[in-house]
Amino acid sequence: MRQPARMLLGLLFVWSSVNAQQPADYALIPYPQQLTAGKGSFSVTARTVVVIPVNQRFKSEADLLSGLFKPGFGTALNVEAKLQKRSIRLVYDAMITAPEGYHILITPQQVTLSAAYPAGMFRAVQTIRQLLPAAIENPGERVTEVSLPAVTIRDEPAYAWRGLHLDVSRHFFSINYLERMIDRMALYKFNKFHLHLTDDQGWRVEIKKYPKLTEEGAWRTFNNQDSVCMQQAKDNPDMAIDPAHIVQKNGKTMYGGFYTQEQLKKLVAYAAARHIDIVPEVDMPGHMMAAINAYNYLSCDGKNSVFGELFTAPMCPCQPAVFRFAEDVFTEIMDIFPSKYIHIGGDEVDRTHWEKSDACKQLMAKEGLKNTAELQSYFIREMEKFFNAKGRTLIGWDEILEGGISRSAVIMYWRNWVPEAAVKAAKNGNVVIMSPGEPLYFSNEQDKNSLPSVYYYNPIPKDLTLAERKNIIGGQGNTWAERIPTEQRADYMIYPRMTALAERLWTNKDDYASYLQRLNAHYTRLDRLKVSYRLPDLGLLESYAFTGNTTLTIEKPIPTLTIRFTLDSTLPAALSGELSGPLTISESKLVRVAAFKPDGSRGDVYDLHYRKEELAVPATVAAAANGLACSWFRGSFTATIALFAKTPDGSSIAGAITVPKEAQSPAFGLQYRGYINVPQDGIYTFYLTCDDGGVLKIADRLVVDNDGLHAAKEKNGQVALQKGLQRFALDFIEGGGGYTLKLQYSFNGSAPQDIPAGWFKH
Ligand code: ACM
Repeated sequence: MRQPARMLLGLLFVWSSVNAQQPADYALIPYPQQLTAGKGSFSVTARTVVVIPVNQRFKSEADLLSGLFKPGFGTALNVEAKLQKRSIRLVYDAMITAPEGYHILITPQQVTLSAAYPAGMFRAVQTIRQLLPAAIENPGERVTEVSLPAVTIRDEPAYAWRGLHLDVSRHFFSINYLERMIDRMALYKFNKFHLHLTDDQGWRVEIKKYPKLTEEGAWRTFNNQDSVCMQQAKDNPDMAIDPAHIVQKNGKTMYGGFYTQEQLKKLVAYAAARHIDIVPEVDMPGHMMAAINAYNYLSCDGKNSVFGELFTAPMCPCQPAVFRFAEDVFTEIMDIFPSKYIHIGGDEVDRTHWEKSDACKQLMAKEGLKNTAELQSYFIREMEKFFNAKGRTLIGWDEILEGGISRSAVIMYWRNWVPEAAVKAAKNGNVVIMSPGEPLYFSNEQDKNSLPSVYYYNPIPKDLTLAERKNIIGGQGNTWAERIPTEQRADYMIYPRMTALAERLWTNKDDYASYLQRLNAHYTRLDRLKVSYRLPDLGLLESYAFTGNTTLTIEKPIPTLTIRFTLDSTLPAALSGELSGPLTISESKLVRVAAFKPDGSRGDVYDLHYRKEELAVPATVAAAANGLACSWFRGSFTATIALFAKTPDGSSIAGAITVPKEAQSPAFGLQYRGYINVPQDGIYTFYLTCDDGGVLKIADRLVVDNDGLHAAKEKNGQVALQKGLQRFALDFIEGGGGYTLKLQYSFNGSAPQDIPAGWFKH
C-alpha cells in the first residue's frame, strides 16, 4: 500500500488506495472465494452514510463499519435505515445460505454488502476494512476522504471452525491483550478463541464458590520456565518476565494474575459482537496443581503437589467431592461463557497416584473399570453427561479417545505421533478439530519453513470417506506460553503464522506466491495495529563454505527494514554497521546479521558461519558398491554422539536416506556410512530436516549440526568438494513420538533437491 499522499496545502490528507486493476492488488487475507476486479473506486467521506434495512437488521455490524472511519475522519459515519445515493448499503439476502457467507459489490457510485446472517455481514465488513488503506487502523492524522477499489466479491469459508488458542496459565496475559487479539482475529476472519484458563502453573478464572483458586492458585514464585525466559531475556527483551504481572505478596515476589467474571463477561460480549465465540478450557483431570495446592482434598493423597515432580498433577476422580468440585467449577464457567462448546482438556494425565489410591480401587471395582485409563474415560464420560444436561458440548484433547468416548464429544487433535487418533475419531462419528503440534503449535520456534508449512497444512487426514471428512470441522493454531512471557513475544510467535492459517481455513486454495505478496502489504497494517510480528525470513544459510573470497548480499524483504551486522560476535544493535551493499568475506568468520524495523526493534539474529576451505580431495577407493552402510541402534538417545559408544543392533545397505523398516522402534539411532559421489568441483549445500537429531559430515567436515531432541526442523550448511567419492557420515536419533528424516542438496544456486540414489556408495 502506498503511504498517505499529502494534499496541496495544509493539514488535510487523502489516502490513496491501491491501484485496483489487477486482482493481486486486492491484498485480502484470507483471499475471497471469488473476486472480480472492477474499474475505478468509491470515495468515502465523513458524509457517506451506512444504510441498513428498516428492521434495523445488521445494526451492530453497521456500527462497527462506521466506527472504522472515526480515527481518520474524527467522526464515525452515520448509520441510517433510509435509502440514500452514494451510500454503503448493508442488504439482507436470503439466497446467501452459508452462515458466514457474504457478497460485496463496489462501484464508483455505491457500495453494497449482502448477507443473510449477521456473522456473514460482519465478515464482509472485515473485507471492507482490508480494502481500505492500512492507515485506517491507526492514522495519527486527519483525512477527508478514503477510497475503496471497485470490485465484486462472493465469499464464504471452507471450514466452520477457524480457531486460535492462547495459554494464559503458564504466563498471564492482560484482558486488554485478549481484546486486541480478538480484534486481530476478527480482521482475519477467525471465529473461535480458545482460552486455556487453568494449568499446573496458574489458575486464571475467578470461581466464586472456590475463592482460593485465584487468591492462591493465580500466584506462584518464579519457576524453572521463568528462569529459562530470564536467561534468554539477556539477548532479547521480549523474553523478560512482564513486570505488569509481578507483585509483592506476604513479603514474597510472586508472578501471576487472573480475570474476574465481570471482565470475562465483557470480553465474551466484545468477541460476540465480532462473531467470535470464546471457548473456555478448564483442564481436568490432569494439569491441576494450582487447584490442588489451594484445595488439597482434590488430590488422591490430600497433599500439595510440587511443580515438576509429576508430569502433570492430576486431581483424584474417585471421590464424590472431587466430582462436585468439577461440576461447581463448570457451572460457573458456563455462566460466564455462553459458548456451545466447553473444553475439559483431558490431556497428559499422570495416573501414578490413582494406581495407589484405595478410593480409586473401590470406584474401579464398583464401575467395572479394568485400569486407570478406563477410570480417566469414566471421569470424562460422567462430565460429558453433566455438560450435555446443561445443553453444552464437551471438547477434549485427543487423549480422551483412549479408553472409550461417546460419539457426541468433540475431539481436538494435537498429538502428531498418534496420527490414527484423528482418523479413528472421525470414523467413529466424532466431530474433530485439527490442531496438530506440527505445524499448528504457534509456540514452536519458527524458521523459514514455518509459514509455508502452516499455509500448506491440509486438515483432512488421508483414509477418510467423503462422509467421514465432514466430521473434520476445521483447525486451530495453539499458543502455549511456557516460554512466552510477554505480549510482544506472543505476537512474534502468532504473527504472521495465523494469517497463513486464516487463509487455509477460509479460502483453502494453494497459491502461496500470491499469499506472500498480499502478506507483504499486510505488514504495514500490522505495524499500524502495533503487532510485534516476526519479520519475514532473510533467506540465509547457517554455514557457508568458500574458497578464495565470497560476498554476502541480503535482499530486504520489506523496503523499510535496515539490515545490520557485526563481525566481532556481538549481537547486532542499533549502532552496528549497516549492510547496504555486498560485504566481502575473505577469511573464516562469524557474521551476525539482523533486520531492524523503523521503530528500532530487532528481528531474528542470524549467525552465519563462514568457513574458508580448500575443495576436499576425494577418497581413493578401488571400487564402491551402490548404497550406504546403515547401522541401527535400539534405545533412547539424547544426542547422536551417544551412538559411538554402542554396538549396533543390526545393519543393512540403504539405497537412500530412508529409515530401514527393521530399524524402526519407538526410539532408535542410525548411522549411515560410505561415500557420496559428487559430479563436479564446487560448493555444495546440504539441507537436513530431522525429528529428532541429525549430524552430517562430508569429507570429515561438519556440514550440518541438527542434533538433539526436537520437532522436525531443517538446518543447512555448505562444503567445498572436488568431484568424486567423498566420505559421507550421517548420524540420526529418534527419541520417540514419530520421526522425520530428509536430506537434500543444492549446487550453483539451484533449489534444494533430492540426492540422486546413484550418488551413494559404500
Ligand atoms: C497439549 O499440548 N498438551 C494439548
